[in-house]
Amino acid sequence: MMPIGPLMIEHRLIERMIDVMKEELLLIEKEKKVDPEFIETAVDFIRTYADRCHHGKEEDILFRDLGGKKLTDEHKRTMEELVEEHRWGRKITVRLVEANAKYFQGNKESISAIMDCIRTLIEFYPKHIEKEDKRFFIPCMDYFTDSEKDAMLKEEWEFDKNLIHEKYRNIVIAAEKILTAKKL
Ligand SMILES: [Fe+2]
Ligand SMILES: [Fe+2]
Repeated sequence: MMPIGPLMIEHRLIERMIDVMKEELLLIEKEKKVDPEFIETAVDFIRTYADRCHHGKEEDILFRDLGGKKLTDEHKRTMEELVEEHRWGRKITVRLVEANAKYFQGNKESISAIMDCIRTLIEFYPKHIEKEDKRFFIPCMDYFTDSEKDAMLKEEWEFDKNLIHEKYRNIVIAAEKILTAKKL
């Protein structure tokens, strides 16, 4: 398998979650209320899977190695756009978390901010994925030898293997901090 294989498979799961978010947005519009637990689940998916696991492999492995190649101007520009889009997606997710927290605390007005963020994310991801799938990933494989591609794929498996440990280590660190704050 080429190193873009796992990344393209991951795109399909992200699209499925985006489809669920689309349906959820329609429900919010219809019922004029938010299910904060769904938003938490969506945020966890976006942060842990779409951003840390997926964008993490793109940026820390594929884009890093492409950075060592003599890219065409078009590929260089596209790669910069993709990194910028990842950053932008993170900012929207922070906004969604904040709006959801406000909603949970009783501020029902933040429903419009929640809807805006979901709308933005469901427009953003398909376009970003299409740019990578259709215009970037496949031509970029030509910059690498077979052994370079194999090494990237191995590094991707390693990256994934460490993620579950990283996620739960961070959860414990956060829980320890909350406990310390409670005892003060
Ligand atoms: Fe990406
Ligand atoms: Fe991607």
